Amino acid sequence: MKKIDILLGLQWGDEGKGKIVDALTPDYDLITRFQGGPNAGHTLEFENKKYVLHTVPSGIFRDDTLNIIGNGVVIDPSVFIDEIKELNLTEDVLIKRIVISTKAHLILPTHRLLDAAYEQAKGKSKIGSTLKGIGPAYTDKTSRNGLRVGDILESNFRELYEVHKKRHLDLLAGYPGTNDLEQIEQQWFEGIEMLKKFSIVNTEYLINNKIKENKTILAEGAQGTMLDLDFGSYPFVTSSNTISAGACSGLGISPGAVGRIFGIFKAYCTRVGSGPFPTELHDDTGSNLRDRGHEYGATTGRPRRCGWIDLPALKYSCMINGVTSLIMTKADVLSGFEKLNICTAYRIKNSITEELPYNIAADIDPVYIQMDGWKEDISDIRDYDELPQALRNYISYIENETGIPVDIISVGPDRSETIVRQK
Ligand code: GDP
Ligand code: IMO
Ligand code: MG
Repeated sequence: MKKIDILLGLQWGDEGKGKIVDALTPDYDLITRFQGGPNAGHTLEFENKKYVLHTVPSGIFRDDTLNIIGNGVVIDPSVFIDEIKELNLTEDVLIKRIVISTKAHLILPTHRLLDAAYEQAKGKSKIGSTLKGIGPAYTDKTSRNGLRVGDILESNFRELYEVHKKRHLDLLAGYPGTNDLEQIEQQWFEGIEMLKKFSIVNTEYLINNKIKENKTILAEGAQGTMLDLDFGSYPFVTSSNTISAGACSGLGISPGAVGRIFGIFKAYCTRVGSGPFPTELHDDTGSNLRDRGHEYGATTGRPRRCGWIDLPALKYSCMINGVTSLIMTKADVLSGFEKLNICTAYRIKNSITEELPYNIAADIDPVYIQMDGWKEDISDIRDYDELPQALRNYISYIENETGIPVDIISVGPDRSETIVRQK
């Protein structure tokens, strides 16, 4: 029996998951999303075109691949309808390639209003949410107040919706601001009609049957381990489990069904939104990384905070996820830096530790080692042995520290700009 592979982010999101899932899709029959929702922005580039996916799995552009939106995902029909319009695929093709779980929860227009109201009330300590309604939708799920995709097929769906809306409006009454719902509601209901055209099934059966049929399956994570609800830099996290364990609950598969776990990381670090970031650079090097790496959010357009690679955080993520294979992206962005810093430990109140503290917001000074950089443009290289020696040293250092091989190196945003060392 084939096992399900998982690909997930090891940092604060935006590691390049979409690009790599798209590049790996020819090896898989099914691509599945297991958590998150329209807060995700996964960028794919090929044939000089660029696409950004939010809810749709990154296998969508390959023929013969089934894309499953699992029960752990939260869906906003009004974002979904816009997203699929941008894909330049016919409705027939989309309907053939996408299947949605009955048990995925819906993001209501009022969830978005609540997200904005809660963020505003937090003032300076705001999370920096994407304001897509993620937190309020997952809150309703865990407090057993949610509406699910399966509910849209019920004849009393509109009534159910009104009950939830009223409850949300009562909550919103405690916050300042006007709630102009009419327009967003209209697009939301158009989205509901669009969702009804897709196969809405108990995807846990579908996925487990595909496993029995020996089909190959890749689970695509959203966000990153440092944004995980339990293990990220709480409270500056998202509201779902982004880690490998989340694939089991977010798809309905047993831990024994999991095969390889691909952990993806940038050759440096970025973070968008608030919260601690020990290796953040506030100087020219930080702005250089942002400019060269085009580090602006794929969902919100916000500038991403940039810094050096953080090994204590990376090792922590490998441990929590049980990573078996590493994927390094954006190595090309580091070309031209004379020296590169690698954070190997943290100094906290005069003691040195490699362990992430409970309160990562505490005063942390990164301890760095320095390595030589390389000057060459590497974006045309497809053979590992042709990479500059300094880059290979950088990669070896990370492999030795984590004890995990870097099997794929991405050297540009296009799907072809990928070096696969180990299949
Ligand atoms: P995701 O959320 O993990 O899918 O990542 P995003 O799409 O939000 O952000 C990654 C950005 O880096 C996108 O603009 C990608 O097109 C781009 N990208 C991915 N891999 C590489 C790479 O190896 N080099 C460069 N220069 N850009 C990359
Ligand atoms: P992908 O899948 C980067 C961040 C937000 C904010 C925090 C909570 O593209 O890697 P939320 O909207 O979930 O309430 O926001 O998490 N965040 C992301 N950062 N990439 C993402 O997704 C993110 N999804 C959420 O910026 O700090
Ligand atoms: Mg992204």
